[in-house]
Amino acid sequence: MIKFENLLMLAPLAGWSDLAFRSMVKKFAVDITVSEMISSYALVYNPKKTLRMIEKSPLESPFSVQIAGNNSDIIKKSVEILNTQNGIDIIDLNCGCPAPKVSSHGSGSALLKNLNLLADLVNTIKLHSNKPYTSLKVRLGFDKKIPLELASMINDSGADFVVVHGRTKIDAYKKEKIDYSSIAQIKEKIRIPLIANGEIDSFQKAKEVLKITNANGVMIGRFALKEPWIFYQLKHNTQELPNMLKKDIVLEHFDNMIRFYGERGCIIFRKNLHNYAKSHNNASDFRIKVNAITSPKIMRESIIDFFSNEKIS
Ligand SMILES: Cc1cc2nc3c(=O)[nH]c(=O)nc-3n(C[C@H](O)[C@H](O)[C@H](O)COP(=O)(O)O)c2cc1C
Repeated sequence: MIKFENLLMLAPLAGWSDLAFRSMVKKFAVDITVSEMISSYALVYNPKKTLRMIEKSPLESPFSVQIAGNNSDIIKKSVEILNTQNGIDIIDLNCGCPAPKVSSHGSGSALLKNLNLLADLVNTIKLHSNKPYTSLKVRLGFDKKIPLELASMINDSGADFVVVHGRTKIDAYKKEKIDYSSIAQIKEKIRIPLIANGEIDSFQKAKEVLKITNANGVMIGRFALKEPWIFYQLKHNTQELPNMLKKDIVLEHFDNMIRFYGERGCIIFRKNLHNYAKSHNNASDFRIKVNAITSPKIMRESIIDFFSNEKIS
């Protein structure tokens, strides 16, 4: 049973929030982790390969699988495939992805232009899923904010909870466009829990967002790629940082990558190291260095060397 009170969710981040990352973040007491977005078409037409993308750690419970789609028959078939898999607690519909390869086919954020279809797809998931929860993740609209229309669609959708990212599709990721008061408007009108998302980059900001929106929790994405311990602060309601070495966290993530991807994980991990190194003095030299490393052994030594014995700060 999920307790929708100051709930902490790690955002789905395609290309980043894989099993290796999520299982490391889980140690900071995040409540719910979400798979990377998977296409309902891919699930139906190539289930074997696609199911690998939703492998999870036993620590990840509750675990949400996010699907994208635009066709209720395909969504139904994809849900039937997910029904054969254990360890999934939530099926989430992506209604916010702005990427052309998703939205130009009527999936992701394009659904915000067709709220009847959107509600129908969520209802289809709810009707056919054998998982305890169905959710949807929306933006505030496609090319304009439509909080009230969204609220009434959410009430009709049969979903158990909703995540709202406080920007429209055309706002993309523009920092100045974030709008928490429209999230508050939706929250006021709906009968199910709401999780607020967008631009949360500190303990203080999370508190402020909860206050403005009256949300049941927050979802954090990009900031968790740099400072995953924000979930520890929020869980323990403290500005204090956990008493840990940054090096150990980065190494745990790296070791997970090698376990999951083999040697290839070393190259994939370069982008994560760029993020972890961001606040450091000699970050750009380190970036250049790791971009040339292909050996997991050398990468591990470089991590130990660069992050030395500093505490999280
Ligand atoms: C690289 C990247 C990949 C993303 N992938 C997904 C995705 O697969 N599904 C989804 O619903 N949102 C996705 N998002 C949106 C995030 O989940 C989140 O809504 C957005 O980043 C705003 O939250 P933040 O400011 O905490 O990062 C992605 C965002 C980024 C930057």
